[in-house]
Amino acid sequence: MKAQVITRFGDPEVFEYGEVDSPAAGPGQVLVRVAVAAVNPLDAKIRAGALASMFPIDFPAVLGNEIAGVVEAVGDGVSDLSVGERVAGFAPSGGYAELVVTTPDRLVRVPDALPLTQAATLPTAAETAQRALALLDVRSGETVVVNAAAGSVGSAAVQLLVAAGARVIGTASGTNHGYLRSLGATPVRYGEHLLADLDQVAPDGVDAAFDAGGRGFAEQMLPLVDPSRIVTIVDFAAAAQGVRIAAGDPFEVNARSLPAVLDLAAAGRFATEIAAVLPFDGIAEAHRRSERGHLRGKLLVRVADIPGAHA
Ligand SMILES: NC(=O)c1ccc[n+]([C@@H]2O[C@H](COP(=O)([O-])OP(=O)(O)OC[C@H]3O[C@@H](n4cnc5c(N)ncnc54)[C@H](OP(=O)(O)O)[C@@H]3O)[C@@H](O)[C@H]2O)c1
Repeated sequence: MKAQVITRFGDPEVFEYGEVDSPAAGPGQVLVRVAVAAVNPLDAKIRAGALASMFPIDFPAVLGNEIAGVVEAVGDGVSDLSVGERVAGFAPSGGYAELVVTTPDRLVRVPDALPLTQAATLPTAAETAQRALALLDVRSGETVVVNAAAGSVGSAAVQLLVAAGARVIGTASGTNHGYLRSLGATPVRYGEHLLADLDQVAPDGVDAAFDAGGRGFAEQMLPLVDPSRIVTIVDFAAAAQGVRIAAGDPFEVNARSLPAVLDLAAAGRFATEIAAVLPFDGIAEAHRRSERGHLRGKLLVRVADIPGAHA
C-alpha cells in the first residue's frame, strides 16, 4: 500500500511517500481502507520529535490517528462491524496510509447522509471537547469562555456548550469573529486584549473556562474563575494552580461518545469546518499549515477515492 512514512524526526520535509507492507486485521481488529485522513497539531509535534519521551515511536513510522473510510476486512471475533461499512475514528497504526488496522471501539459508523470528508473532521474534535467539558459540568445559563474557539476542538466545544444552553464567549483572531458569531458565541480577542474584551462583553463575570489554546490563557482566567472550573487540554503546567487537565492519550481514546455527534452532523446541526482538503502527497504542506496555528477547523488529506463511498 501507499503511505506517508518518516524515518527520522524533523521538519515537514521528512515525509516520504511510498510503498510499505499492507497490514492485516488480527483477532479483534478491523482493517479500514482510508478515504480521508485528518492532520492534527499533535501529529506535527510528534513528527518534530517534541514528544519523543511521551509518545516513543519506532522508525519507519506512519503518523496520523484520525481517519474516515470503508471497512476492508474484520478479524476473528469482530461481529459489530462488517466489510463495506463506512466508518470514522482513531487509527493508532498510522492514519496517513491507504490501509489502517484499528479496533471496533475506536470506530463509529458514518450515517449515510454524512460525507466521509465531514466525518473525518469529527472524532478528535468531538471526543476531546466532550471529555474536557465533562470535567467542567456547565449548567444552562452559565457563561463560559472558550480559548482558541475557532479551532477544531474549540469550535466543537462552542457548539456543545451552546446546545447545552450556556452563554459562550470565544477567543479568536479577528478573521474568525464572524464564524464564532455564526456558531452562537460572542467573539473576543485572545492575548493582551482578552481581559479588556471580557470586561466589555461579560461585566458580571464568567463561570467557567475551557482552554484549547494555551499561551497563558488559564493564568489570565485565575482572577476571574475558580481554578476547579478551568479546564485545559494544552497547558499542563497550569495544574500547579489547581486548573484541571484533560490530558487524554490519543492512542487510547475510544469512539463511544461519537455516534450522537455524527447523527447531529448528518442532520446539519453540528460541524467542524474543513480548513482544506489536500492531496495525499501534500502532507508536508498540511503540516506546515497546521504548525502556523491559525486554522479554522480541520485539515484533511484525501488518501484515496473509494468507489461508491460518498466521500
Ligand atoms: N489533551 C488532549 O486530549 C488534546 C486533544 C486534541 C488536541 N489537543 C491540543 O489542543 C490544541 C488545539 O487543537 P485543535 O485541533 O483545535 O487546533 P487547531 O484546529 O489547529 O486550532 C488552533 C487554534 O488556535 C488559535 N490560536 C492561535 N494563536 C492563539 C493564541 N495566541 N491564543 C489562543 N488561541 C490561538 C487559532 O485561532 P485563530 O486562527 O483565530 O488565531 C486556531 O483556531 C492543540 O495544541 C492540540 O495539540 C489536546
